[in-house]
Amino acid sequence: MWGGRFAEGPSAIMREINASIPFDKALWREDIAGSRAHVAMLAKQGIVSEADAKAIDEGLHQIAAEYERDGVPVDWDLEDIHMTVESRLTEIVGPVAGRLHTARSRNDQVATDFRIWARSAMRRAVAGIDAVLSALIERADEHAASIMPGFTHLQTAQPVTLGHHLLAYFEMLARDRSRFADALARMDECPLGSAALAGTGFDLDRKMTAQALGFARPTRNSLDAVSDRDFALDYLMAASQCSLHLSRLAEEFIIWASQPFGFVKLPDALSTGSSIMPQKRNPDAAELVRGHAGRIIGCVTSLMVTMKGLPLAYSKDMQDDKPPVFEAASLLDLSLAAMAGMVADSGFDTARMRKAAEAGHATATDLADWLVRQADIPFREAHHITGAAVKLADEKGVALDGLSIGDLKGIDERIDERVFEALSVDASVAARSSYGGTAPVRVREQVEAARKRLEEF
Ligand code: ARG
Repeated sequence: MWGGRFAEGPSAIMREINASIPFDKALWREDIAGSRAHVAMLAKQGIVSEADAKAIDEGLHQIAAEYERDGVPVDWDLEDIHMTVESRLTEIVGPVAGRLHTARSRNDQVATDFRIWARSAMRRAVAGIDAVLSALIERADEHAASIMPGFTHLQTAQPVTLGHHLLAYFEMLARDRSRFADALARMDECPLGSAALAGTGFDLDRKMTAQALGFARPTRNSLDAVSDRDFALDYLMAASQCSLHLSRLAEEFIIWASQPFGFVKLPDALSTGSSIMPQKRNPDAAELVRGHAGRIIGCVTSLMVTMKGLPLAYSKDMQDDKPPVFEAASLLDLSLAAMAGMVADSGFDTARMRKAAEAGHATATDLADWLVRQADIPFREAHHITGAAVKLADEKGVALDGLSIGDLKGIDERIDERVFEALSVDASVAARSSYGGTAPVRVREQVEAARKRLEEF
């Protein structure tokens, strides 16, 4: 392709270090689509003849069918997907294939291909997130009033509803969804026609190729267009944050599925057994989602570091942009699918969750709140009185509402029988009815709101 300038061919090392075909063959569909759009535009502008454009287009069509059927041949000498397609095109249509690369460089070509690929990955992420969101809504609806312990520091804090807990993840993933949607809107520009770096002297119709490839408009600066990988970083950053949320959810399922917790039975389809311990039921899928998040975060770091020191315009370092994006995308797609299944099909042991909520003096705050409201005691003092009640309950080995009224009066005269109404876990969650709170009535409202939001996204 550049033979004219060189007396000798590249060394074996040069060929190997240079070859991106082993991974960028994944871009073959985008590459062929970009070339077909380009040649159609060249013909319309009278830069290549209609007959040549037709031959090239048919050749590209044939190559697509071949790759679909047999896969992309990997030949290091052809370096990358762009040269691989062009060399096959030359075999099929002869020297006329050489007209395809008029007013184009691999620099704008690869930027275009990769953008189109990233756009599909973002759309897949959005669809994958939607599946998790809708599973979260369904399970939150079912468990709007199921009581479980809420934790801070992983210590029992206050009772919450499982529906409320699941909707917390709805919020996180809804933000992730909007990050992908933002990225999609921002990347909606086509680099094709920027050529190597400076634009071209040929009279291109860049709007035509942009439109043919599904972009809103052409990029505005050729130097930026060939050296910008923000769209890939946007994908990876959104993917990292999303995987971080999925990892937290996975971690909760892992903890909840452990025997001491026993809050959840993970779906058979997403669990594994042990080769030695017949009783085991391991949360491997959840653990891998947690693990994959680490790798996805590694991918964004990798591309950030690749890009951070590059002068304008294209540098070959940028060939290294693809593996981290491809890797992150396959990990994210799988993680989303696994978590959608886990949320949809796990069996929650609500009796056990409720018992756990009743066990850890989770309603101590309710006793303190009661003292503030019913006896007009300042909160700090109420907190102190309640602490003494918890201590006594621990000594007697009972829950707070297992103390007698005599026990409680012994701690503070101002406590009366009515306090027991406040000490049940049901009363506790029902009382937390502030906007955004855990009370079943608020959770049901948020379930409805979430349904509407999902429809309107
Ligand atoms: N394989 C290259 C890449 O992935 C294509 C662009 C090559 N451009 C060049 N000037 N060497 O980035």
